[in-house]
This record gives sequence, C-alpha cells and structure tokens, in this order.
Amino acid sequence: MGIEKNISIHETAFVTSAFRAFDEDLSQDNFAKLWENNKTEQWVAEYLDHVSSEETYTHCLRNRYFLNTIKKLVAGGEVEVLINFGSGFSMYPFLLDEHIIHVEIDKPEIVDYKMDKIDYWQRNYILPKRNIHFIGVDFSTNYKESLLSKINTIKGTKSSFILIEGVLFFLSRTEANGLFKFFDVIQNSGDYVGSASFQDTLKNSLAFKNLLKFFNQKVAKTSKNDYQTIEDKYYKSLANYNLIDHQDYYSLSSQYANKIGNNRDLILNENFYLLRKL
Ligand SMILES: C[S@@+](CC[C@H](N)C(=O)[O-])C[C@H]1O[C@@H](n2cnc3c(N)ncnc32)[C@H](O)[C@@H]1O
Repeated sequence: MGIEKNISIHETAFVTSAFRAFDEDLSQDNFAKLWENNKTEQWVAEYLDHVSSEETYTHCLRNRYFLNTIKKLVAGGEVEVLINFGSGFSMYPFLLDEHIIHVEIDKPEIVDYKMDKIDYWQRNYILPKRNIHFIGVDFSTNYKESLLSKINTIKGTKSSFILIEGVLFFLSRTEANGLFKFFDVIQNSGDYVGSASFQDTLKNSLAFKNLLKFFNQKVAKTSKNDYQTIEDKYYKSLANYNLIDHQDYYSLSSQYANKIGNNRDLILNENFYLLRKL
C-alpha cells in the first residue's frame, strides 16, 4: 500500500483544516482557511456527500474542545509546552498565548511543507510570530531515541501537554502502544495528554461503511481492519495516567450549542480523552 496510503493520510490533513474553516465560530480557528486549495475543496465536497455531511461540525468541535482545554490549562499555569504528534496543518500555535512553546511532529514531507508556508505567512504579516519547533518523524520507524533527545532539548523540565488527534486511526495498535509509552517517558507528573479516537462500535455504522467505500474508491484498497479503533478501557488502563475527562461529538454538541443534523448511523462520532500523569 506504501505511497498510496501516504497520499491518503497527507490529504486528510488538508481536509481536516477545510472542515475547521467551515464554521469558525464553532471551531474558533480563524487560520484554518489558509490551507484551502482547489483539490481539497473537491475532496471535501465529495466526502460530505458520500461519507457524512456532519463531518464539518465534528471537526470544528474537536478543535474547540482541545483549544479550550489547553487554553484553560495555560491560563492556570499548568502547561508551558504543547507537543503535537501528527500535527498536520492544525493552527494551535496561533490560537494560543504567544508565550507557549510548540513542538510539531509529523512526517517529514508534512512538517517541511508546513514550515515553509508558515514562514511565508509570517514574513507577510498574515500570521504572528510564535516559538515553533518542527520535527519530521514517521511513527512506523525506529524514532524514539533521536526524538526524545530533540524534545528534551526544547522542553527541558517545563510542563507539557501532548496532543494526538486524527492520527491513531491510521496507526497500528503496536505503534499506538509505543507512542503512549513514549509519552510517559517524555512527561513529568502533572503533565497532560489529549487524545482523539473512534470506538469499535463505529465500524457497524453506515457512516464508517461509507468512509471505507470512499477510501477504497479514491485512494487504496483497504479493509475495516486497516483502521484502528480504541475502547475507553484502553485509556483507563494506561500505566501512570489518570483519565480525567472524556467527551464525544454528542456531549460537545450540547456544551457548545451545536445542532446535530443527522441520525447516529450517519455520524462518525469521535471520542476525546484527557489524561493526567500521576
Ligand atoms: C487527519 S490528519 C490530522 C492532523 C492534525 N492532528 C489535525 O487534527 O489537524 C493525520 C495526520 O497524521 C499524520 N500521520 C499519520 N501517520 C503517521 C505516521 N506514521 N508518522 C507520522 N505522522 C503520521 C499525517 O501525516 C497527518 O498529518
């Protein structure tokens, strides 16, 4: 599957940004629109038509949840460094307090592209300056030793929030286990992890079947077993972390007064978890 799978994952980062730009009041992300391009627009239109028309709102609320959660922790003096694993084209550095240090980790081709674009937008006063460190890494390789030393140099003993959203779906269970163990090595007591994932039951929904069909037609032949879902008990049993908050599209919709337009079978309901290191 190799290159074909890479292309699909790469495209998903653009698509996620387009969804966030769709309702800026809901996502609170007024910079996501910078990533707009014709090819993505076409993808998005087809995706909303063939997979689930609710996807714009699910992505806006995901951004809103993590943004508000991190903002509160920053305001309370609990987070000094945001480390974003599989950061794609998300724009948290520009939506958060300017004193935060950011570490953005993704495949080398994604971080190189993002770095160039951000540099251009900053030189043209479209984006404010921020303290951002980009690191190119593929989580399917042997990355830990070198990544740890880079992160330690940037972070020192500062408090951190690790974010992993829209990524675990594309990784194997072994890769996910490796990442959560790695987070424990990076972080200190009182630090946070925010994670987004789908539950197993989602695979029975029409929306998921649509998604699979769409990927099969547009990208590469895959089966439902190629996509990772994660149960609540996984987060509850992670060594050295406490699960302190759990939300999903439905709870966030009521929290942020979002009107749900489809029935359950047509919604890719994502779950959001907040963990705190013991
Ligand atoms: C759907 S995008 C989400 C991006 C971002 N987290 C967001 O929410 O806007 C998935 C991201 O995961 C990254 N990713 C997937 N598999 C990866 C891997 N094996 N190593 C590094 N990054 C990976 C992709 O490059 C892509 O940027």
